[in-house]
Amino acid sequence: MADLSKPIYITTPLYYVNDELHIGHATTTLYADTIARFWRACGRPVLFLTGSDEHGQKIHKAATAAGTTPRGFADRIVSKFFELWESLDVQFDIFIRTTDPFHEAAVQKVFERLRDNDKLYKSAYKALYCVECETNYTDKDLLEGKCPIHKTTPQVIEEENYFLKLSEFTDTLKQRIEAHPDCIVPEPRRNEILGKLREGLNDTSVTRVQFDWGVPLPWEKQHVIWVWTDALVNYISALGWPDANTLPTDAFDGRSRGAHHTPKGVKPFEYWWPESVHLVGKDILWHHSVIWWSELIGAGIAPPKQVFAHGWWTVEGDKMSKTLGNVIRPGDIAGKYSRDALRYHVLREGPQRGDSDWRQAAFVTRYNADLANGLGNLMNRSLNMLHKYKGGVAPPETAFADTRFEGLRQSLIARVNGLCDTLIQRVAGFDLDGALEAVFDLVREANQFVNETAPFKLAKDPARGQDLDASLHTLLEVGHALAYGVKAFLPDASGRIAAQLGIDTSTSLPQALKWGRVKAGQQANQPEPLFARIEAE
Ligand code: MSP
Repeated sequence: MADLSKPIYITTPLYYVNDELHIGHATTTLYADTIARFWRACGRPVLFLTGSDEHGQKIHKAATAAGTTPRGFADRIVSKFFELWESLDVQFDIFIRTTDPFHEAAVQKVFERLRDNDKLYKSAYKALYCVECETNYTDKDLLEGKCPIHKTTPQVIEEENYFLKLSEFTDTLKQRIEAHPDCIVPEPRRNEILGKLREGLNDTSVTRVQFDWGVPLPWEKQHVIWVWTDALVNYISALGWPDANTLPTDAFDGRSRGAHHTPKGVKPFEYWWPESVHLVGKDILWHHSVIWWSELIGAGIAPPKQVFAHGWWTVEGDKMSKTLGNVIRPGDIAGKYSRDALRYHVLREGPQRGDSDWRQAAFVTRYNADLANGLGNLMNRSLNMLHKYKGGVAPPETAFADTRFEGLRQSLIARVNGLCDTLIQRVAGFDLDGALEAVFDLVREANQFVNETAPFKLAKDPARGQDLDASLHTLLEVGHALAYGVKAFLPDASGRIAAQLGIDTSTSLPQALKWGRVKAGQQANQPEPLFARIEAE
């Protein structure tokens, strides 16, 4: 069971500022936001970092094409990132930009350490470089001469560069991954990396000379540090590595929410880094394990605790691409159907384990079945009956006189009381879909309970007043549990359920998510539909 007193530091990749964000980016960010919200709701100390990757050839190229400077271009796109995250209510604690001066200084310090530890050497460089990936390939990595991800012909680059002695780290990395089976999850991704390590690692170029949009190497300024070995450092520069007493972004208006809790007198890097969890997509797992860990170990810094790599979305069976015109924009989905609807689809149907296909028909089916007819209908009919038969006032807790109904009530009590532990266990294992499954099992059972106990029939029989109270009270307990149960996953619905029940959800989850929290005499508000059904489109 997760230790709720232990901090957790959750990061997303820093997204490139060459373009607007799509559903792939929003997926990693929504996974991270959900996990951050969940642990915060449990009272666990959380630090959630996101940001923007602004250096490199790709950004330079996009800025030039737009007739502007890379910095001006980045400013414009970053403000769009902010707008999107705000519209989706993503509650990151820190937003870092790789052009932040404190970050650039940290990157230079890491490189000085690599030099001092004899992990760098200069050599002639001839390589195949995919600008879209900002990554080197060898002939054997290519598929029919093209980048395996972007299907484009890589550039041939010849220059004298600094190389990182990646080959030295093969055994260290293998041993680490074998000794800590959870350091890369899920398991198939870990095996993928182990497989590549068994083939051995080649040293890799980590500076460039024919290009200047990046962090200069401190001792040879004509060299610019490779954008990946620059950007990855954000995960520690954001914490003020090596020895700052406060988070560097605390000085920036609006870029640090200040909701995190680094204990007084402790350096943020020492507090958060040992509990770091990187969330990434499968295409950048190589960079986040092999490259990043080698860079860290080479500089004498411990690698992160864990990397979780999810799969990719396709759209109606096709690769998502601008050329095909099928790019899913998260803001459009949230605007049309609500941001909870977007979150729900990403969490239930998204590529948490393998790849997933975004299908509009599946979106509508799930939304209608689970949100409109499931959760929405349950809350609506529970509260309607409470108003109709009790003036909206919670009856006292009582058992059913009818023993069969009492059996149904006991089953719901057990389900509510077991829910928090199930959620903790599943979120700790990055099983957000499974966590929601447990919540919606409760919704399904409660809807069945309404059908079986039929309070609308009980209300017609004055002799069955006790059973009517038992039924309505049970439904209020379930509503209370659901307001907490969906808090991290469907934050807007949680707030609305709580408002309708006349409760707040500020108590910590392990204390509040259990039976017996409804007070007799508590007044509920009028129900309002939580999710309007989507009619045929
Ligand atoms: N800038 C680097 C990350 C540096 S982190 C120090 C980068 N940026 S990116 O803008 O290209 O964003 C990549 C993220 O988006 C990855 O996690 C990637 O897996 C994700 N996705 C891009 N397309 C995707 C899909 N079609 N589906 C799911 N996620 C996808 O890489």
